Amino acid sequence: QAPQQYWQLSVQRTSLILLVLQNSALVMHHSRNSPTNHQPRYLASTAVLLVEIIKLASIFAPDCWKLVVPAALYTLQNSLVYVAISNLDAVTFQVTYQLKILTTVLFSILLLGRSISLRQWLALVLLTLGVALVQISGQISSEDWRERLSSLIRGGATLNAPTSSAFRGFTAVVAASVTSGLTCVYFEKLVKDSLASVSLWTRNVQLSFFSLFPALFIGVLWQDGAAIARDGFFAGYGPIVWVTIALQAFGGLVVAVCIAYADNVAKNFAASLSIVVSYVATALLFRTPMTGPSTGGAAIVLAAMYLYNSRLPPRMVLLPTTKER
Ligand code: C5P
Repeated sequence: QAPQQYWQLSVQRTSLILLVLQNSALVMHHSRNSPTNHQPRYLASTAVLLVEIIKLASIFAPDCWKLVVPAALYTLQNSLVYVAISNLDAVTFQVTYQLKILTTVLFSILLLGRSISLRQWLALVLLTLGVALVQISGQISSEDWRERLSSLIRGGATLNAPTSSAFRGFTAVVAASVTSGLTCVYFEKLVKDSLASVSLWTRNVQLSFFSLFPALFIGVLWQDGAAIARDGFFAGYGPIVWVTIALQAFGGLVVAVCIAYADNVAKNFAASLSIVVSYVATALLFRTPMTGPSTGGAAIVLAAMYLYNSRLPPRMVLLPTTKER
């Protein structure tokens, strides 16, 4: 409490002294009214604009370079997801991508020193399986289910042999899961370590700023430069594309708030719950049949949430808590 009060008092006095010095400098008056070697007088509007640009740049003054790491990693993650989606079927991608639930916990333990009890580990594994089950069932008809199950029981005779493109896609989705866990936990540590002095919104602007470079140079210019030059930047855009973009941007901001004010594990639970909610909503709104495996998966997700948050025995702690260490 005392050092904080001392800090506040110092900032208060220093800022007032600096303001007196800045206002008494009279440079502005001199710059407007003293003629300079036959040059035309500068335009006040350009000076006003430059002042605002310099003030905007000041949000990059503190330890903003730390955001280069998550910006690069999020860009890598998005590219890996793109490679994975292009080389895998939707079910395999979505199911394997649930690995990020577990990688997030691993990085929370390693980077944040968080402790996870055996019961919570069990809940997380159940959550991963439950989400995977809802995802699989949502895309495979019940006929397919029976066929796939019986083929598995018969020894997987009809399962396709993995192709090199499937291997590429699988490697990409596993790498994306690891990157997701690492990046989100790194961002959480960065934001929480400095939340008192640097606001979440400043961190978001810094992250966006550093993400702009790879998005512009690697994505837009290098990857799609030729197509954009040929068809234009907004080729194929329509209302649904704008809604998607707005939702993605809103989602990114909500993710940031969840990470800063709750944590990444809670964020992943919320994302898993959204899969269950959209499954039930689709069934109610569009009267799609609720299959056994999907409903089972949804129930497992809910049970996992209860198990993770409950204070039920056994209190078997796998890793020591921060206090015990
Ligand atoms: O799947 P996962 O939870 O790892 O994805 C997190 C998403 O949130 C990424 O697409 C990332 O770009 C976005 N994000 C954001 N702003 C933040 C943190 C994350 O847009 N401050």
